[in-house]
Amino acid sequence: MNVGGPSGIVDRGVLRFLTCGSVDDGKSSLIGRMLLDLDLVAEDQLRALKSDSLRSGTTGDELDPALLLDGLEAEQDQGITIDVAYRYFQTPRRAFIVADTPGHEQYTRNMATGASYSDVAVLLIDARKGILTQTCRHARIAAQFGIRHAILAVNKCDLVDFSAEVFNAIERDFRAFAGALGFKTINAVPISARYGDNVVAHSARTPWYRGLPLVELLESIDLDDDRSAAAPRFLVQWIARKADFRGLAGLVTHGSFSRGDVVQVAGANRATRIEGFVDKAEDQERARAGEARMLVLADELDVGRGDVLCSPQSPLDVADQFAGHMLWFDAHAMIPGRSYLVKLGARTVPTTITALKHIVDVNTGAHLVGRQLEMNELGFCNFSLSAPLPIEPFANSRDHGSFIVIDRLSNNTVAAGTVEFPLRRAANLHLQTLQVDKAARAAIKGHGAAALWLTGLSGAGKSTVASLVDAKLNALGCHTYVMDGDNIRHGLNRDLGFTEADRVENVRRVAEVARLFVDAGLIVIASLISPYRLERLSARERFRQGEFIEIFVDAPLDVCRQRDPKGLYAKAAAGQIKNFTGVDGPYEAPVDPELRLDTVASDPEALADQVIGMLRQRGVIR
Ligand code: ADX
Repeated sequence: MNVGGPSGIVDRGVLRFLTCGSVDDGKSSLIGRMLLDLDLVAEDQLRALKSDSLRSGTTGDELDPALLLDGLEAEQDQGITIDVAYRYFQTPRRAFIVADTPGHEQYTRNMATGASYSDVAVLLIDARKGILTQTCRHARIAAQFGIRHAILAVNKCDLVDFSAEVFNAIERDFRAFAGALGFKTINAVPISARYGDNVVAHSARTPWYRGLPLVELLESIDLDDDRSAAAPRFLVQWIARKADFRGLAGLVTHGSFSRGDVVQVAGANRATRIEGFVDKAEDQERARAGEARMLVLADELDVGRGDVLCSPQSPLDVADQFAGHMLWFDAHAMIPGRSYLVKLGARTVPTTITALKHIVDVNTGAHLVGRQLEMNELGFCNFSLSAPLPIEPFANSRDHGSFIVIDRLSNNTVAAGTVEFPLRRAANLHLQTLQVDKAARAAIKGHGAAALWLTGLSGAGKSTVASLVDAKLNALGCHTYVMDGDNIRHGLNRDLGFTEADRVENVRRVAEVARLFVDAGLIVIASLISPYRLERLSARERFRQGEFIEIFVDAPLDVCRQRDPKGLYAKAAAGQIKNFTGVDGPYEAPVDPELRLDTVASDPEALADQVIGMLRQRGVIR
């Protein structure tokens, strides 16, 4: 429902609020009641509501405000996934955008989305029930995603005889719990959404309540926009070029910029001045927080999309690691060490979560230990980005301090999060430039360096082929090293098993070590099941173009089962081994490997010769 429109003058600007609670708590009644008592319901809707109310009979002769919002609940009942429903309305003092999200745990994601756009959370509870686990979860997520003002709407006060004691006890409980969440203001209002007490007008039935009715409270909340007072930041969104002209189009996310101000790109040292603005804005001297502007610099700086301009007095750091909270949305768990994309500010870069420090119990706030993050869990993690980005704590900036996580294969958004602090570890580590490089090392060996990555099912013949290739290369005078899954698991990876998380880590470590061997100028032959496409891609990304050669040792599952060289398929079939690849563990075959070896059509000798032939063709060996 869209009531009213953005017309008329409202002296306090727009306030966005989020209603949290379940249908049972009277959430739809509350919104319906607001609209009714503010005279925002059209004649025909009102007539329909009267007849619906009589028919449903839940409220006797009275109107049932909940029926105004029937549409939304009907959707929920049918199990249709609704995202966030936004409604717009306004009073003479303020315009409101209400984000309404379902309250159940499976909709935590929607709540986080709604919260990230809202200024105020209206937490609705049933006076008979008091603060529930759900209330705590809602408050915590609201605070986590940037809401600074909480209003506890204690509903159904008519059912507790408008008791001041009941209300006071609930308010006390709430303050005791929510005090630690960092809200700037916390208010509690005793209401009855069904009958309208303290929603728009003061209720005569709560003479003991000295505060404002809910709508007035919402009208009066001060959203002192501290963004304009903050250090200036200009997020570059695109560069306009024409002959000699070069304009930077973007958004003033914080503070303000004036013509003549000295600016620099975050993470760089060179500074210049703002020569002027070239846009249609009225004020051509100054750009303020929230404005999209185009500016021209006096000197050309190395700047591109996603860069941030700041002032040398309040520089913005770039970092390639940070610590932050993240709410995981996806049914497939987050696994530390796996590669994801992180979109932060205007940039999207590959990222790995290097540590899951703890899981926050969203209901109680307790810190839990976990190895992976499941759907609807909130985790505190360390992130390692593949490139440095301008990053600030979320407390300072929503724009440079919040992010989403994207799955690299499905392209789905799998998490949303907030930056706690950039990690400066990397700033104190410097890559040493060494005099002898990979090319020099490979040259004295008389061949190129490469990583041959053999992937395939257990029993496909990877180890056999790897060993033969190794022997043939050795006979040709090449310097090689074989990294075989089984062998590595006896040493370096002795601590790892066969869960998804452990295999991800297994592949990551082998890829890192293989990279060192390639850097040493060797031809490395890694032979691992490496069942996940994404981890093989991550392995590939550790190497230069052409250095990583993926070889799919292809054998149908049935053939591997028959061969069963280690007797493991039999054990897996008998249930003695869990997560066995091909049996109850997945194998994602390569889509476009550099070489596919058909182990049914040819014998191992011939397959090894194919590999040698390919290395010659690629110029790795002569
Ligand atoms: S990977 O999946 O993490 O790449 P890796 O190649 O290192 O696996 O190790 C696979 C070897 O471990 C197999 O050849 C087999 O001998 C042994 N193994 C033991 N348990 C399993 C299992 N559940 N799944 C697959 N291989 C297993």
